[in-house]
Amino acid sequence: LKPFIVAANWKMNKSPDDAEIFLKEFKAPAAAQAVIFPQALCAERVSRWIPAGVQWGGQNCHFEKAGAFTGENSPEILKKMGASWVLVGHSERRTLFEESDETAAKKIKAAQGCGLIPMLCLGETLMERDEGRMQAVIERQLREGLKLADFAQPLAVAYEPVWAIGTGRVASTEQVGEAHLFLRRILKNLTGAAVPLLYGGSVTPQNCGELSRVPEVNGFLVGGASLKADAFAAIAASFN
Ligand code: PGA
Repeated sequence: LKPFIVAANWKMNKSPDDAEIFLKEFKAPAAAQAVIFPQALCAERVSRWIPAGVQWGGQNCHFEKAGAFTGENSPEILKKMGASWVLVGHSERRTLFEESDETAAKKIKAAQGCGLIPMLCLGETLMERDEGRMQAVIERQLREGLKLADFAQPLAVAYEPVWAIGTGRVASTEQVGEAHLFLRRILKNLTGAAVPLLYGGSVTPQNCGELSRVPEVNGFLVGGASLKADAFAAIAASFN
């Protein structure tokens, strides 16, 4: 894995045509690995138009490779279509679709078993932060989420405080630094590997510069600002 990863989470936006237009326009960054996470309906078009040096992945997958799971996406098929990555446990999956640490752990195992690189997403809610439980929550999400992971294979973690996602309320550099240092210590003990640790939550071309210089920030997971090719390219270039 490259030392810096900048990922676009398009969520439930963009048609295949929109995706193609973006990919023709997007200039891959020099230093960071760019990764695009389209909705599954765009996967085929993205796999056809993904620029050299850029990777893509699924926003979610099931923990079984195939079978009677109506409406789910197979990690094995994602891999066959050319995906390199899959997001696991994004806060929208956790809060809107009732995903748990346990399903995250199973999905990470399945993804790695299919040769995909899982990106485990975690982060506290505002209430949890206000109650002084930020560290306890993200430690639990990290340990439980990685319970079945193979640390000899690549994986990444994205710290995304729920209150900063899609709100325009970015975490301060102090808050990001504190959480990343905390997660880094646990990750080092747990895995013995250099796991990329990304920040996500209202990252923009305006705030990415100072966030990229925070120690232990190895990249960004970007939602809203990743929908425009030039804005996402500007964010990706912050690690150059
Ligand atoms: P945002 O989303 O950049 O729009 O806050 C980030 C995410 O959900 O990954």
